Amino acid sequence: MFAARQVISTVQRRAFSVSARDASKVAVLGAGGGIGQPLSLLLKLNPRVTELALYDVRGAPGVAADCSHVNTKSVVKGYEQADVAAALKGSEIVLIPAGVPRKPGMTRDDLFNTNASIVRDLAKAAAEHCPKAHILIISNPVNSTVPIAAEVFKAAGVYDPKRMFGVTTLDVVRASRFISQLKSTDPASENIVVVGGHSGATIVPLLSQSGYNLEGEQLDAYVKRVQFGGDEVVQAKGGAGSATLSMAMAGARFAESLLKAAQGEKGVIEPTFVDSPLYKDQGVDFFASQVELGPEGVEKIHPVGQITDYEQKLLDACLKDLKGNIEKGVKFAKENP
Ligand code: NAD
Ligand code: LMR
Repeated sequence: MFAARQVISTVQRRAFSVSARDASKVAVLGAGGGIGQPLSLLLKLNPRVTELALYDVRGAPGVAADCSHVNTKSVVKGYEQADVAAALKGSEIVLIPAGVPRKPGMTRDDLFNTNASIVRDLAKAAAEHCPKAHILIISNPVNSTVPIAAEVFKAAGVYDPKRMFGVTTLDVVRASRFISQLKSTDPASENIVVVGGHSGATIVPLLSQSGYNLEGEQLDAYVKRVQFGGDEVVQAKGGAGSATLSMAMAGARFAESLLKAAQGEKGVIEPTFVDSPLYKDQGVDFFASQVELGPEGVEKIHPVGQITDYEQKLLDACLKDLKGNIEKGVKFAKENP
């Protein structure tokens, strides 16, 4: 009796396979790097991911072999430079953390000269080999690299603004963690709204929308910490790079939200930097706000909503910087196709 039951359950387990709807191939471009490695591990632990394609100009096969021993169902494959097409074909989600990180004293914009062409070339490959994938850009400066990728997709005739995302989740993760430290709350249950972009003054935490009311120097210090949280890590790493572990967590969270929405879950909302109608009348074509996700990617872009005068001043400064960052990316893509 016991043996028979054991055979049946083994057969059932073997017979179990995810439906085609739930088969999700996820590619990581830059998988050998500081973010790419822990991000790949977190994606390997996600049961919604059925195939994991790890690509890098160096080191991806090793990361893939290592990840592939983790006893979850997904299949992991590593791809080297010549294999980008195979890595991308059939991908539903493509995460791009390829590129150089900051060193102390640098701004994210200082990475532009190196990372702009890396993102452009990877976006070209994605436009060719998986034009319908959700593209998640992590490489900095995000405020410019997302517009670059969008221009590449436009030039290839496959741009769908619902499927192009700048990953700004780390700003929300930080804003939530930092307020929990001030208020002694559970950080996991905080979800502070952060809008704008992903660098310095373009990062705008909207504390008032979570019912918090910090004042004076405490508010200034909180906002500054959220806006310059990345610098805290860059300083602490002393030249060895920027945030990798917290970023991997944030990237995996965003990918999980997209997969949930793709698999039919409703009400999945994440802040993300997208092609947005909110401030186009001020010449700002991309903006991060609360975005409801659905099977096709962006389902609804929520407006910023009610904010305080203090937050409005932050937003005004944000829009000014953001406009320049976006224009810089678009100009690069047009002049360097
Ligand atoms: P890293 O140097 O550790 O890793 C980058 C990886 O990209 C390397 O393995 C490198 O070989 C690879 N790479 C370079 N060119 C490539 C190409 N053409 N194709 C494929 N792979 C390529 O850097 P990191 O710490 O992982 O950071 C990566 C990027 O993410 C940086 O630009 C950093 O500023 C950015 N970042 C963004 C956020 C965010 O919130 N969006 C947070 C942290 C870091
Ligand atoms: C971050 O916010 O940690 C990243 O954008 C990396 C950086 O350069 O600060």
